[in-house]
Amino acid sequence: ARLVVLISGSGSNLQALLDACADPAYGAQVVAVGADRDGIAGLARAAAAGVPTFVHKVKSFAERADWDRALTSSVASYQPDLVVSAGFLKLVGDDFLESFGDRYINTHNALLPAFPGIHGPRDALEYGVKVAGATLFFVDGGVDTGPIIAQVVVPVLDDDTVEDLTERIKDVERRQLVEWVGRLVREGWTITGRKVRLK
Ligand code: GRF
Repeated sequence: ARLVVLISGSGSNLQALLDACADPAYGAQVVAVGADRDGIAGLARAAAAGVPTFVHKVKSFAERADWDRALTSSVASYQPDLVVSAGFLKLVGDDFLESFGDRYINTHNALLPAFPGIHGPRDALEYGVKVAGATLFFVDGGVDTGPIIAQVVVPVLDDDTVEDLTERIKDVERRQLVEWVGRLVREGWTITGRKVRLK
């Protein structure tokens, strides 16, 4: 199966996918990596793995919809079976969702529907919850609102800093992402309302 991975940062989730794809039994290949900014470590990881990259910055386009069309067209040119947002910090628009809405997944570093947005671990710590975790879901038009594929839980410890909790979540988040991307591409999936099932 063909994966396109979208990133905005360090790309540790991308790296986990690249490593998993080295085993033919995994059943997937990262055929391209897209980003919304230059100079990020994730793009260097893609280049080191010999994977083609593309960058579309929102500010290079007059309208957000033009950016969305450019992103859609670049992703489509690689004919992905699954598009993975792995720390991609942009909300895609209508064009993108029309093309990939049934095969665009995102990993979020909180237990949705609690703590959506870009500060999941910080918000969870401030709220005082005793467990936190990561959620893998199909992206819809909202912010971290789509049908949930899988969740994984970690404890919140009394003396945790935001960094401690963030790293504890990322460790299990990467493993969840690798496990479920593999299952999705090998087994196929259906989405009925909010229910995601493997075929
Ligand atoms: C992940 O924890 C994701 O949930 C959050 O950003 C992180 C991405 O990290 N939105 P990386 O770029 O894969 O290292």
